[in-house]
Amino acid sequence: MPLKLTVIGTGYLGATHAAAMAELGFEVLGLDIDPRKIELLSAGKVPMYEPGLEDLLARHVAGIAGSTGRLSFTTSWEEIAEFGDVHFVCVNTPQKHGEYACDMSYVDSAFELLAPHLRRPALVVGKSTVPVGSAARLAARLAELAPAGADAEVAWNPEFLREGFAVQDTLHPDRVVVGVASAHAEKLLREVYATPVSEGTPFVVADYPTAELVKTAANAFLATKISFINAMAEVCEAGDGDVVKLAEAIGHDDRIGHKFLRAGIGFGGGCLPKDIRAFMARAGELGADQALTFLREVDSINMRRRGHMVELAREAVGGDSFLGKRIAVLGAAFKPDSDDVRDSPALNVAGQIHLQGGQVTVYDPKGMDNARLLFPTLGYAATALDAVRGADVVLHLTEWREFQELDPTALGEVAATRHIIDGRNALSPAAWRAAGWKFRAMGRPSA
Ligand code: UDX
Repeated sequence: MPLKLTVIGTGYLGATHAAAMAELGFEVLGLDIDPRKIELLSAGKVPMYEPGLEDLLARHVAGIAGSTGRLSFTTSWEEIAEFGDVHFVCVNTPQKHGEYACDMSYVDSAFELLAPHLRRPALVVGKSTVPVGSAARLAARLAELAPAGADAEVAWNPEFLREGFAVQDTLHPDRVVVGVASAHAEKLLREVYATPVSEGTPFVVADYPTAELVKTAANAFLATKISFINAMAEVCEAGDGDVVKLAEAIGHDDRIGHKFLRAGIGFGGGCLPKDIRAFMARAGELGADQALTFLREVDSINMRRRGHMVELAREAVGGDSFLGKRIAVLGAAFKPDSDDVRDSPALNVAGQIHLQGGQVTVYDPKGMDNARLLFPTLGYAATALDAVRGADVVLHLTEWREFQELDPTALGEVAATRHIIDGRNALSPAAWRAAGWKFRAMGRPSA
């Protein structure tokens, strides 16, 4: 009998995981405590923008014409406990309000609510990013609460998907990492991931703490790489160097590589910023805070980028104040191909300028609705051209392809001043300058 899977928490990670598991051939039951989400997903719709996800869901959600019917959703804990052999916990672990530590309340409550219904053998697999030590703590709690006793086990299986590539990353992960306490748990997870592993995906078996740490270490490394190149951008600006050329040149060394060396206004989103902070907080609790003090610097270089962009914009509008100035902001999402505005550097810059009296008009291809919810007082335009109309300076803050394809001549005709600052080093300086724009980029010579 093929394994039956459940997915607890159908946000970004859970919805993608559930649909991907159905694609791999499993019967899947997804649970969320929010009935509106369940209703939406049951109709094959997703509450966020993610390329390919809606199509994947529609291919499998029961009740949709032509679907495999392998994927259904519920709000009942009892139902998922009866249904599943393997339960994936995919709830989020945000940053605690006013603290660096991670808020474990959603993970904890998922285990507390599921465990009392576990009467048959089950493997409960955490996918959320958690502080090291969580899996062992939750395994002890499951042993206390589950009627199945030792037949209910815990494993940890961190998720590395990137927004914008979630479907591809879940169906074809570059590695599967599992933290297990028994050979049985390993066997079940090998069964779940048999398809990608047969296609060459490495399957790394570890203990709980190592599996938990792999995720936080990977994100810490990526954040460090971005802050490294942004630190180089600061030095390039001071010494008239070109960070784009520098990144290209050092990236040819394949020990360094080209990826994650794009200098600009820095990293944001729902993962990297909060994960490095939670990592520092946890290391502190364990008495290993010195090991991660460099992450404080990584964070501070990153936050400095936003302030630097505000200063470049201020210089562009005369160097004094933003009062009476119109600022066009291209981009609101924390990265392209996403409508996610959580901790978005673009919106942070837009918000700072707005608070200093600038008249800010934002345009983003997909992130407008979420941006409006977060910053209702900013101006929003329906197109890039409308955002730029009458602008004293244009800030390019999220590198959507649409912005790389803009016609600088057409935009120049509607802008009050042809002055653009590229906060992502993704536009062609030559093309903009040829159309009469003053073009400034971060970490690059100004002319
Ligand atoms: C990240 C990790 O990549 C992923 O493995 C993990 O599971 C979750 O966190 P994600 O948050 O989707 O994924 O975005 P990512 O593509 O990593 O980008 C994060 C931020 O870094 C974005 O704001 C992006 O604009 C910025 N970035 C990325 C840079 O500023 N420069 C770069 O070179 C790369």
